[in-house]
Amino acid sequence: MTDQTVIPARAYPDYPAIMTPEQLQVMREKARSDPDAFWLEQAQRVHWFKKPTQGFSGSFEKNVSISWFADGELNASVCCIDRHLTEKRDQVALISQREAEGRSESLTYHDLHERVCRLANALTYLGVKKGCRVAICLPMVSEAIVSMLACTRIGAVHVVLFGGFSAEGLAERLVDSGAVVVITGSMAWRGNKAVPYKDTLDEALRKAGEKSSVQFMLVVRTSDEAVPMLPGRDYDYHDFVDHFEADFVPVAMHAEDPMFMLYTSGSTGKPKAIVHATGGYMVWAAYTMGMVYTPRANDVLWCTADVAWITGHTSVVYGPLANGGTTMISDSLPTSPYPGRWFDLIDAYKVTMLFTAPTAVRAMMAQGEAVVQKRDLSSLRLLGIAGEPISPDAWLWYHDVVGKKRCPVADTWWQTETAGVVLGPVPGVQSLKPGSATMPLPGLEMVILNSDGKAEAGATAGALCIARSWPGQCRTIWKDHERFRQAYFSMAPGLYFTGDGARRDEDGYYWITGRMDDVINIAGHRLGTAEVEDALGEDHRIVECAAVGVPHSVKGQALVVFAIPNRTAVTGVDEKDISRLIVNLIGRYAAPEAVYLVPDLPRTRSGKIVRRLLRKIASGETDTLGDLSALSDPSIISTLCERVRSQI
Ligand code: WT7
Repeated sequence: MTDQTVIPARAYPDYPAIMTPEQLQVMREKARSDPDAFWLEQAQRVHWFKKPTQGFSGSFEKNVSISWFADGELNASVCCIDRHLTEKRDQVALISQREAEGRSESLTYHDLHERVCRLANALTYLGVKKGCRVAICLPMVSEAIVSMLACTRIGAVHVVLFGGFSAEGLAERLVDSGAVVVITGSMAWRGNKAVPYKDTLDEALRKAGEKSSVQFMLVVRTSDEAVPMLPGRDYDYHDFVDHFEADFVPVAMHAEDPMFMLYTSGSTGKPKAIVHATGGYMVWAAYTMGMVYTPRANDVLWCTADVAWITGHTSVVYGPLANGGTTMISDSLPTSPYPGRWFDLIDAYKVTMLFTAPTAVRAMMAQGEAVVQKRDLSSLRLLGIAGEPISPDAWLWYHDVVGKKRCPVADTWWQTETAGVVLGPVPGVQSLKPGSATMPLPGLEMVILNSDGKAEAGATAGALCIARSWPGQCRTIWKDHERFRQAYFSMAPGLYFTGDGARRDEDGYYWITGRMDDVINIAGHRLGTAEVEDALGEDHRIVECAAVGVPHSVKGQALVVFAIPNRTAVTGVDEKDISRLIVNLIGRYAAPEAVYLVPDLPRTRSGKIVRRLLRKIASGETDTLGDLSALSDPSIISTLCERVRSQI
């Protein structure tokens, strides 16, 4: 494969780069030769009550321990709000566009401070203290951002939960995290679909029963529909919170105190809560977003990610606010109520930096160029993407049609675990290659292990690893440090394994080839196939099943399930039942594209399911199945191919 298309950095005269290529090189060298000095310098991007003098301590070996800036003290809400109050008191910090209600609100840094303090007081009144977990399950409304910041002001650990999780999925996470308060919404509209936040949480709490520690629920009125409230447990957010005082003394946190946890999927077992530490995370959010999306006067950054994902934490909330920028949120969809909606919003709010997922770019492409041409997108000056691989075609469409070749496209590769950008350009400084997430930011040392497990310099391909810790690295998996060690540090001693495959070309550019484990990525949502298999495995009507990811033109990947029904069960099961089960046990985002009921699955002689073959069969690539002689029963293949063909 050749990587011929190179767009030189100087192609964007309108985009003032924040540094010269030589300065970037100096940063890289400094980070390499004296990492602690480099990171202590970067740590000055945030406000410390007590400045740290220590850089990294710990090791990827043995039990794995990671600590950054250990003697520093800070508060994340102060880094994001208070430190801007003198100079930017009246600057808009947050624009919240409410599609569902046809209105929007803008909060200045001063307003944000007031709102955050009121909620911090209200939560304190409810008994929330430093270290308590608070769950936040809200659509994209300002209260979601206020809630996160109010937790950090108290030192409570926020756990933002996606509104697309099922009651079962929410119950599991509420119990596991030990959350004492939940902040949610009544219900919300996503396009023309109603999302019943409060009802789903009520059901989750019923399911969790005694195992849940939730004592109170604050309910934001996110629509006109009334929802039942449980006296003594449920409070209307504004009726309750708005009476509290608009000042709250922030709690000084040690750098290593946990700041938030976020659930994500892995290749085995149940979703895991990734734990991030206050000091390292804040420095990482400020550094990465400062390098890739430096806000300048009048910049408006619209990152379209849901706040329940790491992009929602770092690119919507902490990164932009730590850098004193203006961040925008919206509950709109790119294609609803009409195609081109997002383009109108860009014009209406004079968005200068748009950051979205490749799946949204593909959805825009499917609407056609004419939808874009009709709109005025002259406010844009930078385009960003993250979350899944993007093809050079889609990259170029974004760059040429949306950005009119005026705006650099920053494809950034990162993960819940890395907290912020790892691979990504400093726009206007580095040449771009469509489809490549460019190179690591200064301070990150990537290693690619080839199929022999060897790290080669220069052009190579294999398992993408990181050799040295970085401040934003997650510290552990909540209540399961051993799983943390196993998942990320057992593949190669001394290295963090990302789970992704990558190729590095002769110019040092990285090309992500996708997950190497059984994790799939549906429209930017990470899902473990083991999660689906475990969930279905609990149903006595299913003997066994296998879930795989197949390519999908808009979502990137889609879920396909092969299931062996239990013929002896009293009640039968059909494809729809299985789809419904997955939606009920995991969430709507996991709804499979196809379900096939089959008599058996392809297995090796030792009984291991051969998922590689299932992936090919499910995506119709039946000409390239390869040698089947190692299967215990090769004849099952034609049965499966027939099954898939007949259902298309
Ligand atoms: C996985 C992490 C960007 C953070 C939000 C997702 C995939 C992420 C890219 C990219 C190709 C990407 C990887 C990664 N991924 N960014 N630019 N190009 N793949 O965070 O939910 O933790 O998922 O998303 O496979 O491991 P996440």
